[in-house]
Parts: sequence; structure tokens; C-alpha cells
Amino acid sequence: MSLTRRHFLVSAAATGLAPAAAHGAGPVALTAAEGVARLTPEPYGPTRVWAYDGTAPGPVIRLRRGGRVTRRLINALPQPTTVHWHGIRIANAMDGVPGVTQEAVSPEADFLYDFDANDAGTYWYHPHVRSWEQVDRGLSGALIVEEEAPPEVDRDEVLLLDDWRLDEQAQIHDSFDSMHDRSHAGRIGNHVTVNGNPAHGLTVRRHHRLRLRLVNAANARIFDIGLKGLAGWVAALDGQPLAVPEPMTRLSLAPAQRADLVLDVTEDEADEAFLISHERGGDFALTTLRIDGAARPARLAEMRPLPPNDLPPIAGLDGAATATLTMEGGAMGGMRAAVLDGVETDIRELVRSGRAWALNGVAGVPEAPLLTARLGQTVRIALVNDTAWPHAMHLHGHHFRMVGKDGSFGPLRDTVLLDRQARGEIAFVADNPGDWLFHCHMLEHAAAGMSTWLRVV
Ligand code: C2O
Ligand code: CU
Repeated sequence: MSLTRRHFLVSAAATGLAPAAAHGAGPVALTAAEGVARLTPEPYGPTRVWAYDGTAPGPVIRLRRGGRVTRRLINALPQPTTVHWHGIRIANAMDGVPGVTQEAVSPEADFLYDFDANDAGTYWYHPHVRSWEQVDRGLSGALIVEEEAPPEVDRDEVLLLDDWRLDEQAQIHDSFDSMHDRSHAGRIGNHVTVNGNPAHGLTVRRHHRLRLRLVNAANARIFDIGLKGLAGWVAALDGQPLAVPEPMTRLSLAPAQRADLVLDVTEDEADEAFLISHERGGDFALTTLRIDGAARPARLAEMRPLPPNDLPPIAGLDGAATATLTMEGGAMGGMRAAVLDGVETDIRELVRSGRAWALNGVAGVPEAPLLTARLGQTVRIALVNDTAWPHAMHLHGHHFRMVGKDGSFGPLRDTVLLDRQARGEIAFVADNPGDWLFHCHMLEHAAAGMSTWLRVV
């Protein structure tokens, strides 16, 4: 008799193999499978995508701080996969990195993700296997952890921004291993959606206060965000509240970055307001806010900062574990050779293996960590971008701060955009034991060599 997936799940629960099932209802499934989505207007048909629970982007997972996320990933894809919970501080074993924190989940297999959500904020989830293909095909979703006492707003909305490279039939271009994308700006799409919708809209009232949780789920596109008929603050970046909310005028949102905007509808005449994407080819509306009905009776007052999560403060930089991370390669970079699988390899052979970049001379995840830090130790990493391209460097398991030339600290982030030829330094307290990736979140760059890791013991 061949066991069907259903039978397997039932018997796994019955034999106690699924720990969360013991508490009652059993774990909720998160199924990754092929599906279709309406990414384009008529007369185009639906687009074949890869979806979580049948939708692209996947369902918003929303819970209160202190709650538990329990999802049994069921892999119905034609490839192995995992789920990485981007930006939220969780146990290393739940981080979803194949070959580092778990084995990749084979087609037809499943894996239980189960962790406490101790930090409030806007996070997201996506695969960490062939992420440049799997994320691009539609596998991403928002993970929202609400504060115990959220700020007063009229609407709290997730806006997951993404771009797609579609052909004339509105189908996803099968050019995932393009060496041009890998060695240049990454895979930039020709079609932008918000929550999978090419003409995303919300209906609001005048003077409404909105909390917009922006997630950039695109592989490589940097969004340059502006407002029309709206005014307010940036309240949090990468899930972590700003100590002092900043007036929101224009915001650069690199791949994987998030921003919580708290905005009032200030438009007094027209019946629409907009969240805008500024593009070289012309600005366009990401989200259109249709203003309808009577105005909100009274405007809300200034906003207070969101309550901080308890991340360990950086007490000082003395005694820190330090490293320098030098980025090389890419188009116009002139890199001649790098280490590939432990062997010094010339650029022609690197390109044949799909590599175009190196971190500290190594193209791909190195054998040895960038550094090893003791639990509780401060870490400083100097970032040197010796390439002609910007990079969105993402650290797993921790939030860091940029260190200014004068020693001042920037806001907490998990992904930082380092401009071409730029220098920077990050610092953080290594408070989460395990092996953690540190990679470019322009996913083609990560695939082509821009990945390393560090160890916290
Ligand atoms: Cu959002 Cu290593 O990833
Ligand atoms: Cu990069």
C-alpha cells in the first residue's frame, strides 16, 4: 500500500512525532506548491507561480508578541525547499538554511517550524533553497508580530512589494541562471505588484491614520518610495522601532528591507492619495488610496515611538570580535580569480560555475566562518564594497547598527544597502548562538558568490 501524504500526516501526529500536535489542534500546514496568480489585468490570463497555501504572496502570518509560530512546511514543489523567517530573532535550528541549520526538505517531505515570536515587528518568510528562483516564482509572505499595545491607527496594512519578469503571455521568464543578471544588478522584473496586485488600492477616509508595513520581496529591485497626499513618519525599519520616528518624505527600500510607515491622509481636495515608486522611467503608483465618505472626525496627534524590543544594547566597541568583509567582482569589477570550493580558480572557470563575485576572495559559502564570537560579545564588521554595484547585505539571527565615522550608531537593521565603492561598519551584540549566514540579498549575487557566515558560541 502506498501511503498518501494525508495518511502520513495523520499517523505522524498520532504517534506523537509532531510535538505541537500534543497541545491540541496540531500544527497548521504551510504548503509550498505550484499554482496560479492573477498578476496582470485582462486580457492576460493567470500566471503560473509557486505559492504558499495557494497564494502568491503567501498568507500573512499575524500574531501577538510572545505568541508562537507553528507551521508544518509541506513541500509539494518539484524542488527541495526550506522556510527562512527573515529578520525575526529565533533559535538557529529554525533559521531554514539548508546544510547549515537543517537539511533541505525534499519534494513530498515536510518539516515543522516552531518558534516563539519574542520581538514585535514586520518580518517576512521565504525559501532558502535556490532562493533566486523560488522567491522570484512567488514564494514569500509577511510575518507580522503585533505589539502588546499597538499605536492608535485606523488601518494596519501589509504591502508586500515585488517585481516579476514576465513574457508576452504573462508567464515568468525561465532565465533564472542568467549570468548577465548575476554579474550586474540582479534579476530586475518588468512588472511590479503590491500583494500580488498590479493595481493595488485601499479605500480610506480623509485624515485617516494608516500603518503601512512595507516589505520588499523583490530579488534585486531597490524601491525609491514617495508619497502624494499623505504625510507622517517612518516608525520602524526591518521590524525594529526607531527611537525617534523620522518624518517620511522619501525612502529607499532595498531587497529584503522593511519599513513601518505611519501616515495620515492629508489630501484635502482630490479623492485619491498615493504611495509612489520613483523610477528612472517615470513615477508610478504602488498603492492608490481612494478617499471615500466623511472625513475622520478629528486628526490624531503626533505619534509616539513604537515600544522597543529588548535587544541587547551595544555597551562599547572594546573587546569586540572584528572582521573585514571585502566585496569584489561583478561586471566592471576586474576580478581575475577567487577561491571556489577551496581551490583558487580563474574568472573564466568561475563564470562557467555561475560565479561572479567574491567575499574576501572566496566565491561562495566558505569552509571557515568570517569570525567566531562568544555569546554576548560585541561584533564589528568593516564592509568594503570594491565593486561597481550596490549590495544589500543581510545578517541572519541578529540586528546590527551602522557605526558612523564619529562612533555614533544608526538604527537597528538586518539588511543594509551598501552603495557602489562604499565603506561602512556594522556592530551588534552576538546574543544568539549558532551559525548564521551573512549574504547579499540581491539573490542572484548571493547565488554567484556573495555569501559567508559567522559563528556564535
Ligand atoms: Cu531573507 Cu538569507 O535571507
Ligand atoms: Cu549584491
